[in-house]
Amino acid sequence: MTFTINDLKNTFTRYTTGVTIVSCIPPGGDKPIGITVNSFTSVSLDPPLVLWCIDRHSGVFEAFNGADDYAVSVLRDDQADISTRFATPGNHDFAEGETETMVTGAPVLKQRLAAIDCRVEARHDAGDHVILVGRIVDCDYRPGKPLIYVARSYLTGPEIV
Ligand SMILES: Cc1cc2nc3c(=O)[nH]c(=O)nc-3n(C[C@H](O)[C@H](O)[C@H](O)COP(=O)(O)O)c2cc1C
Repeated sequence: MTFTINDLKNTFTRYTTGVTIVSCIPPGGDKPIGITVNSFTSVSLDPPLVLWCIDRHSGVFEAFNGADDYAVSVLRDDQADISTRFATPGNHDFAEGETETMVTGAPVLKQRLAAIDCRVEARHDAGDHVILVGRIVDCDYRPGKPLIYVARSYLTGPEIV
């Protein structure tokens, strides 16, 4: 290989994304958990599919990989603190009353720019990550400004009405 892991990281930080909190109820549990995710992407309109990738080293890998459903909360520009919170190792719990459910029963943040509620359609091994493909069973959106992530920093996106 002509590049190092550091080259890869520096390359990836030049790619701009939004920020989401992906959440689920772990198998056999009842307490919602969440993780900060920017690997989320839309995949297909018909059927409606999305995906995100979870690190096999994550403390919540087994929980998300074993769950039948997940929900994606797209963050607003004033929610960088929530992104930092759910990116902190071992910190995956929601506060009382912070979430609600849509169709699948997976928790979604009450405060959000948009939400996507999914049933897991497929799991694909992908190196040190697993790709979790979800079939959308419900979604919603609100006016506001998205939280943007680039070069390990948060920015404000444009107002979307
Ligand atoms: C903006 C941002 C995006 C992230 N995206 C992902 C992601 O797509 N997949 C992932 O597994 N981890 C992602 N992470 C890292 C996890 O949020 C973080 O490693 C995890 O919450 C750490 O907790 P753990 O060690 O208990 O797993 C991201 C972190 C940040 C700040």
